[in-house]
Amino acid sequence: MNCQICLKKAESRYHSRCLKQFFGQTGVDPLIPMTASEFYQNAPAHVAGFSISGAQVKMQMNVKDKQLVITASGGDYILKPSPQIFPQAAENEHLCLQIAKMLKFETPPVALLNFTDDSPIFAIKRFDRQRTNEHENEQTQQKIHQEDLMQAMGLAKFTSNSKYEYSYQQVLLDLITIANGLHLSAEFFKRLVFAYLIGNDDLHLKNISLLYTPKGIMLTPLYDYLNTALYGVNGSVMALSMLPEHKETACFNQMGNGYYYQADFIELGLSVGLSEKFIHKSIRALTDKTDKILSLILHSHLDPIRQQQFIDMLNNRKARLE
Ligand SMILES: Nc1ncnc2c1ncn2[C@@H]1O[C@H](COP(=O)(O)OP(=O)(O)O)[C@@H](O)[C@H]1O
Ligand SMILES: [Mg+2]
Ligand SMILES: [Zn+2]
Repeated sequence: MNCQICLKKAESRYHSRCLKQFFGQTGVDPLIPMTASEFYQNAPAHVAGFSISGAQVKMQMNVKDKQLVITASGGDYILKPSPQIFPQAAENEHLCLQIAKMLKFETPPVALLNFTDDSPIFAIKRFDRQRTNEHENEQTQQKIHQEDLMQAMGLAKFTSNSKYEYSYQQVLLDLITIANGLHLSAEFFKRLVFAYLIGNDDLHLKNISLLYTPKGIMLTPLYDYLNTALYGVNGSVMALSMLPEHKETACFNQMGNGYYYQADFIELGLSVGLSEKFIHKSIRALTDKTDKILSLILHSHLDPIRQQQFIDMLNNRKARLE
């Protein structure tokens, strides 16, 4: 059995230290106190007035007296079940976030939880909420403002398809403007290479967000990273084109097979002012770790067929990045 938090070998579903880390306290019962179908029946009522929109049904969750409580708002965690059309999306997203964590990307705590009928659901701690101990036993929840790039760039008034009407070059340039320097852009460049490597082909403007912290504007930790290539539904291997107006980098055009290569990422990075040395280092930092990624995939809760598909895809994209 592999721990449904860290994916390492365990005697039961979770290491108790992993549960403690995830919930911030000991002795929490990690079972969601309802069946999956009860969850879906309740979801519409709970989702009304939900501030975290997105493509799929979601709920929030809190811990009260060591038990999980599903809630409409003010939750410390977000719960995402696997949509019927994307089997094992929960296991997939959990795995991808654990890979990201291993690669030292900033990730919120994540876990695979179960309903009483045993079906799994993905849980992620909210990064835009903070608990502070104001009085001895009383905690208050503080909100940290977040904004996705559609909102931040003032594009929200357009149709929902506008989240795809942009390019990674524009994202990188916007981040340079927002940060008044290269640091957010450099970080996003690494995330983009990572997304490509793990088949996260849906990195559109609503899956990139800014967090307005007292220390300044940052990128939020990673969220909604999963291997969408496994489902073969995306028309192209990345959500946005590299260059504005659906234009692509030279190597991509020349190869003409729909895949990006190292040269494309180099062209993109150089075009916004990242140094060649930084670009090479960022790509290599990820491709050098594929053995560790493979091991996490094999320890994941994806079924063996999907594990193999993930591994084949990873090897394929790694080769194109070298
Ligand atoms: N851990 C988190 N903390 C705070 N907000 C989050 C977190 N994860 C997602 N969100 C917010 O919820 C929205 C929907 O979540 P997402 O994972 O993108 O779901 P979907 O798969 O439906 O697009 C995101 O666009 C983001 O604004
Ligand atoms: Mg999303
Ligand atoms: Zn563990």
